[in-house]
Amino acid sequence: MSENQKKIWITGASSGIGKAVAEKFAKEGWRVAISARRKELLDELAGNQNITSFPLDVTNRDQINNVFKNILNEFGDLDICLFSSGTYEPKDEQNIDPDKIKNVMNVNFLGVIDCVKAVEDFFKKKKSGHISIVSSIAGYRGLPNSSGYGPSKAALTNFSESIYFDFKKFGVRVSIVSPGFIKTPLTDKNEFPMPFLKTPEYAAEKIFIGLVKNKSFEIHFPKGLTLFLKFLRILPYKIYLFLVDKLVKR
Ligand SMILES: NC(=O)c1ccc[n+]([C@@H]2O[C@H](COP(=O)([O-])OP(=O)(O)OC[C@H]3O[C@@H](n4cnc5c(N)ncnc54)[C@H](OP(=O)(O)O)[C@@H]3O)[C@@H](O)[C@H]2O)c1
Repeated sequence: MSENQKKIWITGASSGIGKAVAEKFAKEGWRVAISARRKELLDELAGNQNITSFPLDVTNRDQINNVFKNILNEFGDLDICLFSSGTYEPKDEQNIDPDKIKNVMNVNFLGVIDCVKAVEDFFKKKKSGHISIVSSIAGYRGLPNSSGYGPSKAALTNFSESIYFDFKKFGVRVSIVSPGFIKTPLTDKNEFPMPFLKTPEYAAEKIFIGLVKNKSFEIHFPKGLTLFLKFLRILPYKIYLFLVDKLVKR
């Protein structure tokens, strides 16, 4: 293990996008700390010599703080944090269920805020480094049957925009990742056809380039879908609501 080896912490790394990103960074020679609740899946991934498992539940603040301390003890330093944990149950999204919405907000929004808080002082003292948050195109504007997930991602995007300015003063980069549809256990629950569906490996490639080679605030893909949704985002309500209503009825 070389002194100069770069180091990344990835949450939500037991499956899907987080797992593929962990494998990509490890393959590129980075030292990778991985977190999620399912220890057995993390341990399997940690068979790779560049990957170390640090299980946690993002709804437990003490666990997050302890895990971050343990990572620093073991790794000595960190260059990037990628917070990718998230939950989505499409069937729960069709009606307004306050308890289920609270759970989605706890995991997708507040869980990520606790992770950012845990690493804040470290990065501000270091005066470099990078915090990246996996949000979603579902946070761009309100979509049908998305009473919890969409709002949780909209909040995450807005939060990231806000802290961007604060961390920039300390030389710390903040970015967001807005994936389109990626085939993972999370989207396998969708019962509608997903346009431009891509693999987790495709997402990992785009995220690696966005985090390491480019400097933009938002890493979004595939462009065929995200640029269309960005266009919808700037439309006045009257046209946006009319168009989305027509599109979902097709
Ligand atoms: N797939 C897509 O099309 C898509 C599109 C846009 C955005 N996203 C976002 O991408 C991220 C990854 O999703 P994915 O598609 O890769 O789905 P996934 O395979 O279901 O991954 C979700 C990850 O989050 C972890 N997680 C869930 N609840 C957690 C908790 N309480 N504490 C710690 N970790 C928790 C899961 O691990 P454990 O269950 O082991 O804890 C898992 O590793 C999510 O933030 C999702 O919203 C996905």
